[in-house]
Amino acid sequence: MNKNTAVIILAAGKSTRMKSDIPKVLHPICGRPVLEYVLDLVDTLKAKEVIAVLGYKHQEVRKILRPGIKVAIQKKLRGTADAVKTAMPLLKNFKGTILVLYADNPLLKKETIKKLLERHINNNADATLLTAKVNKPEGYGRILRDKYASISGIVEEKDASDFQKSIKEINTGIVCFNKEKLAGSLKSVRAKNAKKEFYLTDVISLLYGSGGLVGGVDIGDINESLGINSRAELAQANKIMQKRLQESWMREGVTIIDPDSTFISYGVKIGRDTTIYPFTVIEKDVKIGGQCSVGPFAHVRPGTFLDNNVTVGNFIEVSRSRFSARSRAKHFGFIGDARVGPSVNIGAGTVTANYDGKNKNITRIGEKAFIGSDTVLVAPVKIGKRAKTGAGSVVTRNRDVPGGVTVVGVPARPIKKSQ
Ligand code: UD1
Ligand code: MG
Repeated sequence: MNKNTAVIILAAGKSTRMKSDIPKVLHPICGRPVLEYVLDLVDTLKAKEVIAVLGYKHQEVRKILRPGIKVAIQKKLRGTADAVKTAMPLLKNFKGTILVLYADNPLLKKETIKKLLERHINNNADATLLTAKVNKPEGYGRILRDKYASISGIVEEKDASDFQKSIKEINTGIVCFNKEKLAGSLKSVRAKNAKKEFYLTDVISLLYGSGGLVGGVDIGDINESLGINSRAELAQANKIMQKRLQESWMREGVTIIDPDSTFISYGVKIGRDTTIYPFTVIEKDVKIGGQCSVGPFAHVRPGTFLDNNVTVGNFIEVSRSRFSARSRAKHFGFIGDARVGPSVNIGAGTVTANYDGKNKNITRIGEKAFIGSDTVLVAPVKIGKRAKTGAGSVVTRNRDVPGGVTVVGVPARPIKKSQ
């Protein structure tokens, strides 16, 4: 169905309310830029053409666009109608439906967009809006309806009368157009409004005025249309996305004791029967096997891979490290740039001193090694299979401990050879 669909993603905005030097669509939600979520959604539509309208810091935003997406640069931010107009030359030969999406709407679901497109196409409408009924409509454009309850226009908050402000049906901003009708109406949009901008929303009353058919689809879940305009909305979106991600992990057989105090980034992998205890942060690029135990108060940072049956317990920070099966670090410590073999026990308070001020160095710990409490392993260093370190020992750099040997003290030295 989507051979006849083109998507225009509006992403030129300056993010004024974010008070940020970074374009808002590049701010992360669950460890991933806002825009990536919108791009995922667009991928599922398999549209014929996808145009991104960029402006503010477009070189940076462009970097995360995917192959096949064309870019139109809006030099001056003169409003949403102007933004869409900028994209139109790239659709010169296209005929069909144009879907307009905002790049700052990361929570939209593909089912919702599919429903909107289907309704639009089946009704052969000139425009179909995604609308919502909300208790607090402040800041949104309000939907105007005629005496037959047909949509007749949209009025922006700043231009609305008191009566119009009391309308609780709002414009989410997501809309489908018949291309020819859109192109025709865009020419007539004027910047005669409080913001002196060219509003895309004016196309609706223009189409209605010329006898066009304008439809509406209710979004159902208003959270889906949450736009990221401020840091508060960014936090709100993070919460909603976090809930979605956690629910999907729970469906896959992961136990999350307290979802509210657990933070799992997008793209993390977690195996079945793993339990995540409260106050745990799992960042991106992390893979956790099955039957693991993580937290409480664990910080699992990027580049970490935990094999099955691994325990990373209370107050442990792990970064860029691999733990093989059945290894455990149960009580506070820092494990960075480590390669931990299977069935290793890392005692309470163990620290890998991985950074020498210039480079990050690797610590290797062999199978069944036993690292005594409060050991410092100054990397690069290697602890052999079944080797042991005594409590409080400091194993200095390059002073590798051979397999089976026990070392103690500061600096650590061997005390005996085990069989
Ligand atoms: C817009 C709608 C409003 C709707 C609300 C939903 C208009 C006139 N108003 O208002 O009815 O309720 O969204 O969130 O459309 N952009 C550009 N170029 C520009 C201006 C904006 O690319 O010149 C992009 C922005 O980056 C953003 C999107 O268009 O992604 C929407 O712009 P924004 O200024 O946030 O519109 P709102 O005032 O929120
Ligand atoms: Mg907005």
